[in-house]
This record gives sequence, structure tokens and C-alpha cells, in this order.
Amino acid sequence: MLDLKNYVASIPDYPEKGIVFRDISPLMADGEAYRQATDKIFQFAKDKGVDMIVGPEARGFIIGCPVAYDLGVGFAPARKKGKLPRETVMSEYDLEYGTSALYMHKDAIKPGQKVLVCDDLLATGGTIQATIDLVEQLGGEVVGCAFLIELEDLKGRDKIKGYDVLALMQY
Ligand code: PRP
Ligand code: ADE
Repeated sequence: MLDLKNYVASIPDYPEKGIVFRDISPLMADGEAYRQATDKIFQFAKDKGVDMIVGPEARGFIIGCPVAYDLGVGFAPARKKGKLPRETVMSEYDLEYGTSALYMHKDAIKPGQKVLVCDDLLATGGTIQATIDLVEQLGGEVVGCAFLIELEDLKGRDKIKGYDVLALMQY
């Protein structure tokens, strides 16, 4: 087993002074580390009856798509403004740095589908809360939330109490 923290680069004062950016690029660049990380999420999800994976733009795609492939289910993106061509639902949120909104196509999730939400990192929890809100607006049931990294000081978990949460690394 690899220590996945050896594959996360920590960059002080990026993108703003006072933020330590946790960069997963080294993990993605190493086939063994990337497989080990996504396989742990697969193990967490495999008995949950997951019908669809949802991941927020952009790094949620990097984690969610391989897990969807491993589970043999589909992937639906939650995208930033102006990216989706058909009718959408929308949810606004605050970030550790800035504010934003996420959108999903109205037919991306069918009512009653069980959804696993995947992202690289849980910080304040705004992104995951907005993603969960989109899934629930569409009538989906969120059966779990999976992350590579959790920034514990920012208490994102407090925003997703009541959901089954997996985070592979804590900072
Ligand atoms: C980052 C990260 C998470 C989110 C976590 O994405 O990939 O999605 O921030 O922060 P939160 O818990 O405070 O919401 P970002 O919005 O920077 O977009 P990117 O993936 O396109 O880089
Ligand atoms: N998204 C929000 N906060 C972050 C951080 N500190 N590092 C990487 N991505 C982030």
C-alpha cells in the first residue's frame, strides 16, 4: 500500500496569501497511486447500489469518472456557468476563495436513482453541498460522498452531516 500523502503537493500562498493549495497532480501522474485511490472509493461504493456518479467541475471529473468506470455505472458532471447546452438546474455556493454556481442538465439524474458524489477535496463544503442540492433537486438519492482529501480546519463535514462520507487523507 502506498502512502497517498506522498503524492499530494502542498503549495503555500496559492491562489491567495494564507491558502495552502493541496495539488493532486502528482497522484494523478502516478498510475499506481491513482489506481489505489480510486480503488478505495470503489470499495466504499460497491455495495451501495449506486446508479450514477456525479462530480463537480473540474477535479471532480478526475476522481468520479474512473470510479464510474470501475462500478460500471454512468457519470454526470455538475458544471460551472455557461457550459451545459440544454435545460439545467442550478445551485449557488461559497468557496474557500470566492463564490460560484454549479449546474446540471435536468435529465442528468432520474428520480429515485442512487448517486455517489465524488470530488478531489473537501474544504468549506460549499461545492459538495451545491452538488448534493442539484442531485436532490432532480429527485436523486445521495448514498455517499467520496473525496481524496479533507481539510479538517474548514469543517466541510459539518455541511454534509447525515451523509455517508469517505475522505482518504486528512490535512
Ligand atoms: C476545488 C476542489 C473542490 C472545491 C472544494 O474546486 O476541487 O471542488 O474546490 O472547496 P469547498 O469545499 O470549499 O467548496 P474549484 O472550485 O477550485 O474548481 P476546479 O476543480 O475547477 O479547480
Ligand atoms: N479547493 C478549495 N481549497 C483548496 C485547497 N486548499 N487546495 C486545493 N484545492 C482547494
